[in-house]
Amino acid sequence: MNHHQKRAKVFSIVNQKGGVGKTTTAINLATSLALSKKKVLFIDIDPQGNASTGFGIENSQRQKTIYEVLIGECGIKEAIIPTRINRLKIITSTVDLSACEIELVGFERREFLLKKALKEIIHDFDCVLIDCPPSLGLLTINALTASDSILIPMQCEFFSLEGISHLLTSLGLVKENLNHHLEISGIILTMYDRRNKLTEQVETDVRDFLKEKVFQNVIPRNVRLSEAPSHGIPGVLYDPQCSGSTAYSRLAQEIIEREVL
Ligand SMILES: Nc1ncnc2c1ncn2[C@@H]1O[C@H](COP(=O)(O)OP(=O)(O)O)[C@@H](O)[C@H]1O
Ligand SMILES: [Mg+2]
Repeated sequence: MNHHQKRAKVFSIVNQKGGVGKTTTAINLATSLALSKKKVLFIDIDPQGNASTGFGIENSQRQKTIYEVLIGECGIKEAIIPTRINRLKIITSTVDLSACEIELVGFERREFLLKKALKEIIHDFDCVLIDCPPSLGLLTINALTASDSILIPMQCEFFSLEGISHLLTSLGLVKENLNHHLEISGIILTMYDRRNKLTEQVETDVRDFLKEKVFQNVIPRNVRLSEAPSHGIPGVLYDPQCSGSTAYSRLAQEIIEREVL
């Protein structure tokens, strides 16, 4: 394909609930896609900066971050830095980003700031993965407005389906008002525990409700995935053979096929 025609597909990893596996999914999918020879840009748009930490990038290395890009203090190219992984680059975040929601209130077209910034580099990558904060505030709205497609990590718990219904309603509003092209790529079942009876029940319900939108590959609960960030290494590289890592590799292949990446 002509290099000049190629355009990165942009994914947001979203769920307004915290602790459901967004960041773990974003890190391990981005790494798996890079290992599958895709050129990937990772954007950490969560003020907690967990993904930046999970890739082993110290605070002192985060000079130009997504915060400076959004408020127009630097160009997007200046904020892109390499990771230890080939073909995988990142725009980091720090706690400074938490002020953004308020600082941007007076900005014109404040929902479109990320979309506008991405235009400059959209032909340089195969895909962009955005790790969102656990809320549906202006940062997440910027991610959704800039995205082609949504990935929704979900834990199989009692109230999960209610949370997903609420999220789907909000995504519908964004699609109607800000981004007509927005698609839901799929739901990813995370921290999956076969021994828990409730897991099976919730999985059955969510597959009945959302059909083929739920990815076939589920991510098991696996302690190696939760250890990896403290070493600054994605789980799929920290222990490539563990059940969590092989699940993320298979999920990445499923996404490549579904999205024709
Ligand atoms: N498949 C998994 N197995 C075990 N622990 C996990 C798994 N996925 C995530 N975790 C852990 O659960 C916690 C929340 O995950 P995280 O990815 O940070 O969620 P979020 O970004 O949605 O808040 C973290 O401590 C993470 O290490
Ligand atoms: Mg997170």
